[in-house]
Amino acid sequence: MDNRGYYSQFGGSFLPEILAATFDELEKTFRNAKNDPDFWQEYEDIMSSYSCRPTPLTFAGNLTKHFGGAKIYIKREDLNHTGAHKANNVMGQGLLVQRMGKTRVIAETGAGQHGVATATMAARFGFDCTIYMGEVDVERQRPNVFWMERLGATVCPVKNGTRILKDAINEAFRDWVSNMDTTHYVLGTACGPHPFPEMVTYFQSIIGKEAREQILKIEGKLPKRIYACVGGGSNAMGLFSGFLNDPVELVGVEAGGKGLDSGEHASRLCSKDASIGVAQGYKTYFLQNSDGQMKETHSIAAGLDYVGVSPILSELKESGKARFEAAEDNEVVEALALTIKKEGVIPALESAHAFAQAFKEAPKLSKDDVIIINQSGRGDKDIFTVADAFNDPGWKAFIIGKAEQYNA
Ligand SMILES: Cc1ncc(COP(=O)(O)O)c(C=O)c1O
Repeated sequence: MDNRGYYSQFGGSFLPEILAATFDELEKTFRNAKNDPDFWQEYEDIMSSYSCRPTPLTFAGNLTKHFGGAKIYIKREDLNHTGAHKANNVMGQGLLVQRMGKTRVIAETGAGQHGVATATMAARFGFDCTIYMGEVDVERQRPNVFWMERLGATVCPVKNGTRILKDAINEAFRDWVSNMDTTHYVLGTACGPHPFPEMVTYFQSIIGKEAREQILKIEGKLPKRIYACVGGGSNAMGLFSGFLNDPVELVGVEAGGKGLDSGEHASRLCSKDASIGVAQGYKTYFLQNSDGQMKETHSIAAGLDYVGVSPILSELKESGKARFEAAEDNEVVEALALTIKKEGVIPALESAHAFAQAFKEAPKLSKDDVIIINQSGRGDKDIFTVADAFNDPGWKAFIIGKAEQYNA
C-alpha cells in the first residue's frame, strides 16, 4: 500500500472536503495506536476476556472422511461474542473511538451481525449508537434487529435504492457528514475510503495470526489452501493476512446467487458483470452498468449481497496472489446441511459459501494436504431463511401458531 491508501490501482480516498479533517484525525489515531506497543496487547486482552479468543481450529474429521481427500480444519470465528468475526473489528474501532474522545457510533449492516456487534461494543463502552440497515435486510434478518434494539441502538430502516447494504452505507455517510464532531462511523468491512480497508484488515488479522500458529502446532506444517467467503472482504482479509508471505493458496468465495449467467448474484471478482469504478469513497470492482449506476445484486446470504469489494482483494486478484470462486445459493444450502449433519456445527449462510467451494476441491487433493475453512459466523440468525430453503413443516406450524397467538 502507498501512503494514500492505494493497493496498486485500487483503494484511495474519494471524499467530500467536509470529511477531510475527520479522516485525518482517524488516520492519526490509528497510526498512533498501531505504533503503540501496548495497543495490540490491550486489543488482545479485550478480545480474550470479552470475545472468546483465541477461537479454536477444529478438525472436521467426519467431513474429511466423507470427502476422502485433504484434511479439513475449521477456524471457528462463529465462537466470537455475538457469533461472528465482526466482533474483532468493532472492539478494535471501539478502542480508537475512546482514544478520539467521541461519544456516538454509527454503522451500516447487511446480515445484521455487524450491527449487533457494534451495538454490543457501544453498550460496553457507553456510546450512543445508531445502525442503518436496508429495509429488505430488516425483513430477512429480523432477529438481529430485535437484539440491536434491546442493546440500546436505534435501528434506521433505509428505504432508498435497492434497500440493502450499499444503501445503508450511503445513509451512514450522510449521518456522519452532519455529526462528525461527536460521531465515529464504525465501517464493518475492509472497504470504503482509506484508512478503513487497512484498519479493518489490521483488526481482523487476529484470525490469520491465530490460524497460522494453530495449524503449525497441530499439523507441523502450513495448509495447502485456505477458504473464506467474500462480502466486503473482512473475514477473508483477516484469514489471508496470516498467510500472505507463505506458499499457501488463498481462495475467496463470492455469492454466485442463482448463477453467474443469471445476473442474480453478488460476484464482483469472478463474474464478467463487474468493472472497475469509484463509489462510496474508494476505487475497486463494482457491479455497475456502463453509466456507473449500481446493479441489483442477489445472494441467499444478506452479508454477501454487496456491490463492491475490498480494494485489497481486488489487488490480490490482479496480482494473482489469491483465487476467487463463486458458490451458488443451492450449493450453499447443501453444504450447510452436510456440515450440520456431519460435524454438529451450524455455519452462517455467508460462511457456508466457503464450505461449498472447499467441498468441491477437497476430494481432488491428497490425504497429506491440509485445508482451512473460515467459519466467519454462526447460523442461528438465518433460521427463517434456512427453514424456508428446507421447507420445514414443523417450523411453519410454529410460525403460524405464533401469528395466531399475536392476532388473538
Ligand atoms: C457471518 C458473516 N460472514 C461474512 C460476512 C461478509 O462480510 P466480510 O466479507 O466483510 O467478512 C458477513 C457480513 O455481514 C457475516 O455476517
